[in-house]
Amino acid sequence: MSTTAIHGIGSMGGAILDALVAEAAGAAGGGEVLAVVRRAEQAEQLRDRLQGTRASVATTEEAAAAADLHLVAVKPYSVADVLEAIAPSLRPGAVVVSLALGVTNADLAAHLPEGTAVVRAMPNTPARVGQGMVVLSPGETVTDEQLGLVRAALAATGRTLVLPESQQDAAAALSGSAPAYFYLFVEAMVDAGVARGLTRADARELATQAALGAGTMLRETGEEAAVLRAQVTSPGGSTAAALARLEAHGLRHAVADAITTCADRSAGR
Ligand SMILES: NC(=O)c1ccc[n+]([C@@H]2O[C@H](COP(=O)([O-])OP(=O)(O)OC[C@H]3O[C@@H](n4cnc5c(N)ncnc54)[C@H](OP(=O)(O)O)[C@@H]3O)[C@@H](O)[C@H]2O)c1
Repeated sequence: MSTTAIHGIGSMGGAILDALVAEAAGAAGGGEVLAVVRRAEQAEQLRDRLQGTRASVATTEEAAAAADLHLVAVKPYSVADVLEAIAPSLRPGAVVVSLALGVTNADLAAHLPEGTAVVRAMPNTPARVGQGMVVLSPGETVTDEQLGLVRAALAATGRTLVLPESQQDAAAALSGSAPAYFYLFVEAMVDAGVARGLTRADARELATQAALGAGTMLRETGEEAAVLRAQVTSPGGSTAAALARLEAHGLRHAVADAITTCADRSAGR
């Protein structure tokens, strides 16, 4: 049974911790989880929250000595500090996964003993409810067994997809940041529904279920989005009229521009 350390329990690390803690005991990848935080007050709160779960609070040094898998979930500028703190007592064969935007496998390797297995990863926050996506780009020394360990440990957070590191910036734009695009769309729908006389709670219920239903249809039917959209669009009907307004306002262009900008930003351009 492997031990997983999560360094940094903020928005992303907290989402992953929640998913791992919620995972049924004995599920694939089940093992001890160590949460590493740097503020005593946060450690105290976490200790209470994690009581009776498979997770506990640990110091960086304890985590370095015990974990087979390290998930580094701090801001990109703090990744080097964490790596340098765990490097001296890293277990042989341990895998270090960075979830930080723009931090490359070469950056990771530079702060760790030679040959350490490193993986650059791009997660997203629906991990919290087991519906996340983690895009994994393993470094050169990562074995199939080590990659299997990473995928098994993350299984409770949702899906994983292995892509070349050169595609991480596109993945950040299409996956890491993408939940925010959908939230903005739902926010706009709810406001429009309220303007049309619905209560905010009813508008939220309708828009949320439409988002969930559409996502589930995409996943379960395997159909192209354009095909599913056509199925809701009667010729000359009200949906066609609504879609025409979205196109007239440049939705497709806005989405393409947003995703290109996001990918460029994550590439540091
Ligand atoms: N949020 C997202 O949707 C998302 C999506 C994809 C990727 N990411 C990546 O995930 C990483 C974390 O982002 P975030 O949004 O979760 O940031 P965040 O909410 O600011 O969380 C970062 C956490 O790291 C802690 N921390 C900093 N240095 C530490 C250290 N040396 N040891 C232990 N803990 C330390 C911070 O603690 P303090 O509170 O004490 O400062 C904070 O709780 C980033 O690199 C980001 O690029 C995030």
